[in-house]
Amino acid sequence: MTRQGQGFVRHIELDSRVGTDRYPFSLPVVTHLAGMGRLDLDPGVTFLVGDNGSGKSTLVEALATAAGFNAEGGSRSFRFASRSSESDLGDHLTLCWNRRPRTGFFLRAESFYNVATEIERLDEGSGELLRAYGGRSLHERSHGQSFLDLVYHRFGPNGLYMLDEPEAALSVQGCLAMMVRFRELLRQGCQFVVATHSPILLAMPGARILQIETGGTIEQVEYEQAEPVALTRAFVNHPERFLDRMFADDA
Ligand SMILES: Nc1ncnc2c1ncn2[C@@H]1O[C@H](COP(=O)(O)OP(=O)(O)O)[C@@H](O)[C@H]1O
Ligand SMILES: [Mg+2]
Repeated sequence: MTRQGQGFVRHIELDSRVGTDRYPFSLPVVTHLAGMGRLDLDPGVTFLVGDNGSGKSTLVEALATAAGFNAEGGSRSFRFASRSSESDLGDHLTLCWNRRPRTGFFLRAESFYNVATEIERLDEGSGELLRAYGGRSLHERSHGQSFLDLVYHRFGPNGLYMLDEPEAALSVQGCLAMMVRFRELLRQGCQFVVATHSPILLAMPGARILQIETGGTIEQVEYEQAEPVALTRAFVNHPERFLDRMFADDA
């Protein structure tokens, strides 16, 4: 048994009257979600997969803001903003809570640099806050090392973690190290919602994989059927078949 927690967020509901023709409400996955009524989350790990542009980041960000996290990333005490591209989907999303987490973090791979800057600013040179993140400025670590510092040092028991492509900066070894930590955190009652393209992370035992299909429907799929897994496997087994087709015009 990997997981001990009951999860914090049982399911999410999107106001079915949100239909408009502007982003984010115009996205097929958002229309689909509004039509579904509710989407159940796993008490342990829920992965969101789907092609680029399918709406994974939009959904994770909406979940994170509805849970009270800063839209650009960080813990619930972070209130900085260096851009205003976030959508207001979170305002229309209702989270159904089992109980509230003790801690948590929203990690956006794409704006992690700004989070690292904010941590430095809040630390004010005292080193106190930095200790919670491994003791060194995340700017003095490689991108991948700083992610692992975060997950190993800052993430803790009974936490709710919303992560957008946490594998972005990680080597395969780094992904494996992250999974070992995830397993430990799951045993300590944590819940994760993770948008990912990683066929490695998706192998977390017991995880629920929700795949955004072309057209915006959300389907629960098994590991082998998840597109990052099936496509990576097909490619790695026979790269030449893909390359021949992709570069057919070169001859
Ligand atoms: N701030 C924004 N304003 C308008 N359109 C956006 C904005 N952010 C993302 N989009 C569009 O919404 C779609 C889904 O984006 P996103 O959620 O980032 O996809 P994913 O994370 O699955 O790659 C994309 O077509 C993208 O261009
Ligand atoms: Mg994204």
